[in-house]
Amino acid sequence: MKSPIPDYLKQVLEHVRPQDGGTPADYIETLAKADTSRLAVALAMVDGQIYSAGDDTVEFSIQSISKAFVYAMAIEDAGLEAVLAKIGVEPSGDAFNKLSLERGSNRPMNPMINAGAITAHLSNLSVDEEVYEAELRDADRNMGIGYMLKAAGIITCVPREAVTGYIRQCSINVNVKDLAMMLATLCNAGIHPVTGESIIPQTSVRQVFSVMTTCGMYDAAGAWVSRIGIPAKSGVAGAIIGALPGQVGIATFSPRLDERGNSVRGVKICERLSSDMGLHMM
Ligand code: DON
Repeated sequence: MKSPIPDYLKQVLEHVRPQDGGTPADYIETLAKADTSRLAVALAMVDGQIYSAGDDTVEFSIQSISKAFVYAMAIEDAGLEAVLAKIGVEPSGDAFNKLSLERGSNRPMNPMINAGAITAHLSNLSVDEEVYEAELRDADRNMGIGYMLKAAGIITCVPREAVTGYIRQCSINVNVKDLAMMLATLCNAGIHPVTGESIIPQTSVRQVFSVMTTCGMYDAAGAWVSRIGIPAKSGVAGAIIGALPGQVGIATFSPRLDERGNSVRGVKICERLSSDMGLHMM
């Protein structure tokens, strides 16, 4: 029997399509020129089934969504205790690009803000060179954060290397189906739903989902949790990921952002999915 889910996802996209408020990120030249008509959603179930609608093969840079996965990799690489010694788990209540170091320990408040992500950075993947070069041309703020982290004794490497690595990590190309499957892997206790490969230990998944819940949507995290109620993370190219652990990974894409850097239509899609499918954790 044909699944009704793809038709439902198309309806959800048509429902949010007229909501065209917001603007694409303007501080990265390539993102400022984004085609704002783009709109996509994908759901990946923990049994490996994937459903999608709209511009589901269009690629965009992963941006801050990479922070959730790089945090998991840092825990894998150095162990949770060592990571916690350098990066806190408290919401900063501030924009993603504020320094937000914890008083006393000097640790970045959490791994979802830039200071925490620059500290956790270790990835080495292929990137969209145009987005990378565009952001690097205008990276004074992130370079400043890198130098402050070095001065505070949190990182010990050359700050420029940590920041350029972080910007490359943000420039990795993905589409909504890739993101949904990455998330379904986390939702499936760190085991890839299709290959059965164990990618991330369950203890790290719990840690990642915890900080996504409290810090993933930055200074909109409280409103997000009360309205939509699932762990989530946004990126300035216009993607949002949301997770229902044990069940489904969700990814949306639409480039226009609200004043907090979260995709306007993406938030609406997640609101609709959460209410229709009863996803809220409460
Ligand atoms: O650090 C930056 O400015 C970006 N490359 C990533 C920011 C981002 O995606 C914020 N999320 N909504």
